[in-house]
Amino acid sequence: MIDMKGVYKTYPNGVTALNGLDIGIEQGEFVYVVGPSGAGKSTFTKLIYREEKPSRGTVNVIDIDISQMKERMIPKLRRQIGVVYQDFRLLPTLTVYENVAFALEVIEEDPKNIRRRVMDVLDQVRLKNKARFLPDELSGGEQQRVSIARAIVNHPKILIADEPTGNLDPDTSWEIMHILEEINESGTTILMATHSQEIVNTIRKRVIAIEDGMVVRDESRGEYGYEH
Ligand SMILES: Nc1ncnc2c1ncn2[C@@H]1O[C@H](COP(=O)(O)OP(=O)(O)OP(=O)(O)O)[C@@H](O)[C@H]1O
Ligand SMILES: [Mg+2]
Repeated sequence: MIDMKGVYKTYPNGVTALNGLDIGIEQGEFVYVVGPSGAGKSTFTKLIYREEKPSRGTVNVIDIDISQMKERMIPKLRRQIGVVYQDFRLLPTLTVYENVAFALEVIEEDPKNIRRRVMDVLDQVRLKNKARFLPDELSGGEQQRVSIARAIVNHPKILIADEPTGNLDPDTSWEIMHILEEINESGTTILMATHSQEIVNTIRKRVIAIEDGMVVRDESRGEYGYEH
């Protein structure tokens, strides 16, 4: 599903964020990406949805070498990958319903189908009753659930979550984790970058630790492994 070989990334300012990554992830896996601040976790995730290009090496995503991919093919790739960020990134002037519907590919979709799909996915994140609310009328956890709904509305094969609980209190974080687990159980591959020792050590999954742009540890059912 995701296969990186000999991947290096040096940003235009000369900072080398990835230093020879080799990572393989199978369909349906749930993977935590851990490591100190500045280790290269976000850069690693950005290569997967072609937000960034590797300086060297191959990045295969869903059987396509995306380091060679033409710009015009990027939207097609992105439809297969949902992304959730620490800071939610909802559109503030759109309602919950509209934020999610907006992400759905509307080309030739029957409006009835769009409505059904949006309400289904809002039900999945337990927010059907807040469809008409604006983002700033919601709690942080609710906003993150909207952003998860938006990320999965297209039935992506891969869901990338970059510190999805970074701005949330512990109880709300567990809620988000249970939703991510349900999404994973339905077959979606999940990659989650996190600094949460508690989550990683409680909901045990594969752990890839990155330091200085290299994989220093890769364990199925691993531990967080850093003092916090
Ligand atoms: N757009 C950019 N331009 C230049 N340097 C960058 C850019 N993005 C990241 N970097 C640098 O690349 C390195 C890796 O950054 P990255 O954001 O991938 O780390 P991270 O592991 O996600 O850290 P954090 O845990 O703080 O989110 C850092 O030294 C960072 O300063
Ligand atoms: Mg980061």
